[in-house]
Amino acid sequence: MTYEAVQECASFIREKHTGDMPKVAMVLGSGLNSLADALENATVLSYADLPGFPKPTVEGHAGRMLIGELGGKPVICMQGRAHAYEGHPAEKLAYSTRVLWALGVEVLVLTNAAGSLREEAGPGSLMAITDHINFSGVNPLVGVNDDRFGPRFPDVSEAWDKKLTKKLQACAEELGITLHTGTYLMAKGPNFETPAEIKAFRVWGADAVGMSTVPECLVARHCGMKVAGVSSITNLAAGMQGELTHDETMEFGAIAAVNLEKLLKAFLAKIA
Ligand code: HPA
Repeated sequence: MTYEAVQECASFIREKHTGDMPKVAMVLGSGLNSLADALENATVLSYADLPGFPKPTVEGHAGRMLIGELGGKPVICMQGRAHAYEGHPAEKLAYSTRVLWALGVEVLVLTNAAGSLREEAGPGSLMAITDHINFSGVNPLVGVNDDRFGPRFPDVSEAWDKKLTKKLQACAEELGITLHTGTYLMAKGPNFETPAEIKAFRVWGADAVGMSTVPECLVARHCGMKVAGVSSITNLAAGMQGELTHDETMEFGAIAAVNLEKLLKAFLAKIA
């Protein structure tokens, strides 16, 4: 997607939301709809109305951008996201993150639903993402580089901002919420993994596995945004429990969401 298309979409959003633009945006994974509903004074924009936006197709993922306040602090909530497994081309996965950057967003908080590779981080728990492994085969930065977004070869040795993660941990501690930390591995999906894949991923150092988030992180780092992330653990990964179902991920996503909503509110208050 071109720089001009990104700027055009940002201008469209600025016409709809004439107030100050928040510096913090949160991408809400499946099961986190209640957080979006908690936004006050929100300008609500459907992805379907935003020029150039990919449309999410998954049940449980509303496609809306909400610009408002959470506990009185300005924030943009992206309710739902486009996934590689939906068939979107890699460059399309960069689009919404670049629009946020064009709006002036400096901190991007990414959330997702993930399977845990660690028994002690069970369904319903939360894990702050401290690093990632891109096993998806998808990279939204592939193609001719537009230097106006960022450099050809971006450094991602600190993809996940250490200071922001410390603040997440401090908030969790204050709230009495257990926040695991770990490496998130992105698989392309849409199938859940095989037990053999999970065994291999564990050897590589993965703590959680999911089908999103890494493209947004890469794009955000490319254009200089700071990134933090939290996975809602919805299940133990393949081979560690019985059959995996989307319904189960929705159920435990809802349980984790209660704590994640509190955590994100406190975090926003700390950084906004
Ligand atoms: N694997 C991949 N994605 C997921 C999982 C999983 O186990 N749980 C929720 N999203």
